[in-house]
Amino acid sequence: MSLTIKADVTKTLSAVAAACDLVDRRLQNHGERVAYIAQEIGSHIGLDKERLNLLTLSSLVHDIGIVTTREKLELADFNPDSAIVSRHAKRGYDLLMTTRYLQALAQPVLEHHEHYREDLDLIPAIIFVADRVELLLHRDEYYLWQTDRVVQRVRDHIGTIFHPEVVECFADLAQKPSLWLDLQTGNYVKAIRDNPDMMHVLSMEELEDIAELFATIVDSKSPFTATHSSGLAAKAAIMAEKLGMEPLKVRQMRLAALLHDIGKLAVPEEILVAPRKLTREEFAVMQQHTYHTYYLIGMLGDGLESIQRWAAYHHERLDGSGYPFGLTGDQLDMECRLMAVLDVFQALTEDRPYRSPLSLEETGAILRKEVQAGHLDGDLVDLIMKHGEELINPAS
Ligand SMILES: [Fe+2]
Ligand SMILES: [Fe+2]
Ligand SMILES: [Fe+2]
Repeated sequence: MSLTIKADVTKTLSAVAAACDLVDRRLQNHGERVAYIAQEIGSHIGLDKERLNLLTLSSLVHDIGIVTTREKLELADFNPDSAIVSRHAKRGYDLLMTTRYLQALAQPVLEHHEHYREDLDLIPAIIFVADRVELLLHRDEYYLWQTDRVVQRVRDHIGTIFHPEVVECFADLAQKPSLWLDLQTGNYVKAIRDNPDMMHVLSMEELEDIAELFATIVDSKSPFTATHSSGLAAKAAIMAEKLGMEPLKVRQMRLAALLHDIGKLAVPEEILVAPRKLTREEFAVMQQHTYHTYYLIGMLGDGLESIQRWAAYHHERLDGSGYPFGLTGDQLDMECRLMAVLDVFQALTEDRPYRSPLSLEETGAILRKEVQAGHLDGDLVDLIMKHGEELINPAS
């Protein structure tokens, strides 16, 4: 099987923005909508292609440093608390600086709430206006009825909070009904995800770099799972090698593991961090995560079908009792089964605030019970347990 992954940078950052915005219905697609408004302002103001790309990509991830839904809602206020503002901006900056390929986005993200000063770069100044405009719009009213109010609100702060040149440009642009109609109808999505000027196929190294960033963000949503995705990724790579997979496929398995819980970005943290058994309703929300993982990975670009399955089927069970698709053994190939076993192995051997990591013996006993129950693949459980020691303490 040959796999040519063609993940695109804009689609990939759009996917993560969309994922983060899924936690609250009122703010759905905030990141992409801001990116669209920013891109329109940026091209109207005459930024060159390279700066326009930087503007759009930074806009997509401008709020990547938000941790909780509460912070997100507080930042939606027109004048949010300055401590929350600086915390999420700094955190976004720090996250982007840990990457190899997205460091250029860090500075605009750091400055996207900075009040106007003469030496402030136009890119964060544009993101700031686009962000506030997006939040001023009432989504349940005709957008064209709101343009005067929104423009006036922004004008009220010209030269004090907002960059004068950006405000003038936006006020001019606001006369164009299609700007608002694109936002209202969802047509803006094409301008972001399918913009030919923005296309850039990610190399494997770039995709791994971004996947590591996503894994860090997912893992840090809950103190219970601080190393869950990275731990699973290391184990998936070890087992893929043991199974004789070729080097590229080993990397792809690792990539799938890094992304396996990306749908958790759409799960509110009250549910993710509840240190107790979830209620039925909460569990239903939790179960959405693999559904979102499946579709989010599909959004990254072309050729990701295998990674999509290896990542998103980790809660499927051989007897059909898993979620979200209720697949059965004949629909789950070895890679999917491996990921499912490793995910349980990783969870059991992880430190949790309410219990210590389980020993290898305890872990093996639980996994074998799962095999007997018809949930997990017995051969893979045996193989994983054979290498259990190395999986827990990988030779570096
Ligand atoms: Fe923000
Ligand atoms: Fe925002
Ligand atoms: Fe999961």
